[in-house]
Amino acid sequence: MMAERIQTRGRPAWQKAIDAFRSARYPLALTGAGISVESGIPDFRSSEGLWRIFPPEEYATLEVFRANPEKAWRLYRALGEILEGKQPNPAHHALADLERRGRLQAVITQNIDGLHQMAGNRRVIEVHGEHRHVHCLQCSWRRPVSADDYSAPEVPACRRCRSPLKPNVVLFGEWVRDLTEVERLLERCDALLVVGTSAAVIPVAWMPLRVLKRGGQVFEFNLEETELTEAAQFFFEGQAGEWLAAFAEAV
Ligand code: APR
Repeated sequence: MMAERIQTRGRPAWQKAIDAFRSARYPLALTGAGISVESGIPDFRSSEGLWRIFPPEEYATLEVFRANPEKAWRLYRALGEILEGKQPNPAHHALADLERRGRLQAVITQNIDGLHQMAGNRRVIEVHGEHRHVHCLQCSWRRPVSADDYSAPEVPACRRCRSPLKPNVVLFGEWVRDLTEVERLLERCDALLVVGTSAAVIPVAWMPLRVLKRGGQVFEFNLEETELTEAAQFFFEGQAGEWLAAFAEAV
């Protein structure tokens, strides 16, 4: 079954998607880097993506961090600079508006940029961690990240055990965060907004399939088709900032 492709509003599929979301009892959102591109934060796998400059296998694995923290910090400093001063865009505000109106239970995000919280969402599960803290892999000590962490030439050291600190993000080779809570939410979810993700990385890529398997509906918002599109009920083709804002207003 192919998703109903929605490229213009007013078409029957648009109204069908609105009616379907309105009747949902436990709607959730699942977001990826694409929702933040219109805020000026590049995604990972598009042609301008971050992984083109910093191949993840070279910069973003647990192994690289342990063997060569200085190298890993080159990526973190670049990310820190990119995230500096970025603001939520209409897609983030649309999800915050839906939560405020009781039309969204939570946002599960792969993003570390904190823009969902900045837009006003209160229930945000950051399965790939966040960039607001640095933490020690050895003794689990953690502190808020400071501007010095990004500007100083040396890798910040743990105050407790002197091991190198890393941003509190999930590296390849680490398991994702808060999976038990996510599983509990997905068990109840009957409508999942999937926004700006290539749906390429597990276990997040499995999450929409869990909802579909239990008879729930998937509403995908993306510039282009992904692995998920065929299985989704609705596919809103275009900029998340435009489509998600219009959708949130209409439901
Ligand atoms: N509107 C809608 N979709 C967009 C937009 C936009 N303005 N810009 C980009 N996209 C889509 C792209 O088409 C792509 O499908 O967002 C998706 C971004 O995919 P990725 O770059 O793979 O990012 P993401 O899905 O979040 O990656 C998942 O992989 O490397 C890890 O930890 C990293 O959290 C990340 C995870």
